[in-house]
Amino acid sequence: MSSPLLAEATRIAREFDYPAAQVQRGVAEYIRQSNEGLAQENTTLSQIPTFVTAVPNGTEKGLYLAVDLGGTNFRVCSVELHGDTTFSLTQSKIMIPRELMASGTSKDLFTFLARQIEAFLRIHHNEHFEAHQRRRREGKGEEELFDLGFTFSFPVRQYGINSGTLIRWTKGFNIPDAVGHDVCALLQSAIDDLDLPVRVAALVNDTVGTLMARSYTSPGETGTLLGAIFGTGTNGAYVEKLDKITKLKSMKDAHFDTSTGEMIINAEWGSFDNQLGVLPSTIYDRELDADSNNPGIQMFEKRVSGMFLGEILRRALVALHKDSKVDLFSNVSITPEGLLYRQWGLDTSLLSVVEADNTSQMTDIKTALKDHLNIENASNEDCQAVKILTHAIGKRAARLSAVPLAAILIHTGKLQTDDIVDVGVDGSVVEFYPNFEAHLREALREVKEVGVEGDKKVRIGISKDGSGVGAALIALVASKDENLKNP
Ligand code: GLC
Repeated sequence: MSSPLLAEATRIAREFDYPAAQVQRGVAEYIRQSNEGLAQENTTLSQIPTFVTAVPNGTEKGLYLAVDLGGTNFRVCSVELHGDTTFSLTQSKIMIPRELMASGTSKDLFTFLARQIEAFLRIHHNEHFEAHQRRRREGKGEEELFDLGFTFSFPVRQYGINSGTLIRWTKGFNIPDAVGHDVCALLQSAIDDLDLPVRVAALVNDTVGTLMARSYTSPGETGTLLGAIFGTGTNGAYVEKLDKITKLKSMKDAHFDTSTGEMIINAEWGSFDNQLGVLPSTIYDRELDADSNNPGIQMFEKRVSGMFLGEILRRALVALHKDSKVDLFSNVSITPEGLLYRQWGLDTSLLSVVEADNTSQMTDIKTALKDHLNIENASNEDCQAVKILTHAIGKRAARLSAVPLAAILIHTGKLQTDDIVDVGVDGSVVEFYPNFEAHLREALREVKEVGVEGDKKVRIGISKDGSGVGAALIALVASKDENLKNP
């Protein structure tokens, strides 16, 4: 007999069910919204043309810089591409101070980024740096510049491989004066203020970087079709036929190589179905959205990615805790000021720990509750309730993730050939949440156009640090483009 607490947890968990029929509807709607996004601007799925028209084949060579402004950290790296599918990477990583993410100006943010690049160059490439400054002082012109790939993981309307204006902030960022501005120009001007030997050569979404990196490291007959991130945020980039991107016709000044007949599209699928036509919605999803800094947008992301899963779980736990008919954490003193009652008080990494602990004593879950929420003495039954909810929220996220994947497989016609379809993924959720890929694949097989046979053709591989290597690869493509050097 299940206790009232476990019965209630199970009832709430069922609200997170996402059955096969809904997956199928989601896929059909994703295909519709993606076609709309290829034809027009300002659609819910942005389908951003990236001006990257070829994927690498593993023979690319050279030393490039890459920086990555993602969700939580800023990374600076130099990447040496050896030209034989391998690379070496030197990197430094720093947490972005919260005040720069949401209350400062764009100048504060970009100056901070340029300072990190300066510190990195001084530590790892000081000779080059000093030579540059010496030549400048002696009036001998500039030392050769480093080409830098700028991974900027937010929706940007791109005008070319190295320019694009910010459409909106996502994840925890909110710096209004940057919206509508060219983020490459902002970074270049902060770099120039510090007189660094660096040229911002390419603007790269992390998903595009992941796709490029995966293509470089595991080149196959057909190349990689899709790069996807399931981390703080979620998004994907895939290879599209140029003639399907009909909105490109209205971008007359755009310059790009048409010889491959293809271009990588950054889908910005975090904003799939913002109107909630087909996405599942519980009261916890709706409240999370209403209290977020961007209500009504990134609705898919808010059900799938790491920034939000912890907060969904927290809200479901609060509902159980407030329910006087059941006893959750009854041996524990929980105050309204405690972390359980604080927005964003629960980090998503807790979900991975909870899902992974299958022991009867659930010691890892107890430790995680203590570390994450300051909850001591949780009972076994408390832990079980947490586990029931966690499992349901994580499983829904993984099943939802099958929707864009299935849609892109169907839309690009890739399943009609005999080839393996390669997908590169990165991000904390896909890397650490137990069975994420298994749940995703289960939902994928339930899509009738994919089925068991289709699923077998899909090869999914982690593309670790993909965005750094990918940014370097795109900087390489851009640096070879004379039109970009001398516009
Ligand atoms: C958010 C951003 C998107 C990025 C994704 C993963 O969805 O809008 O550009 O690719 O997070 O980091």
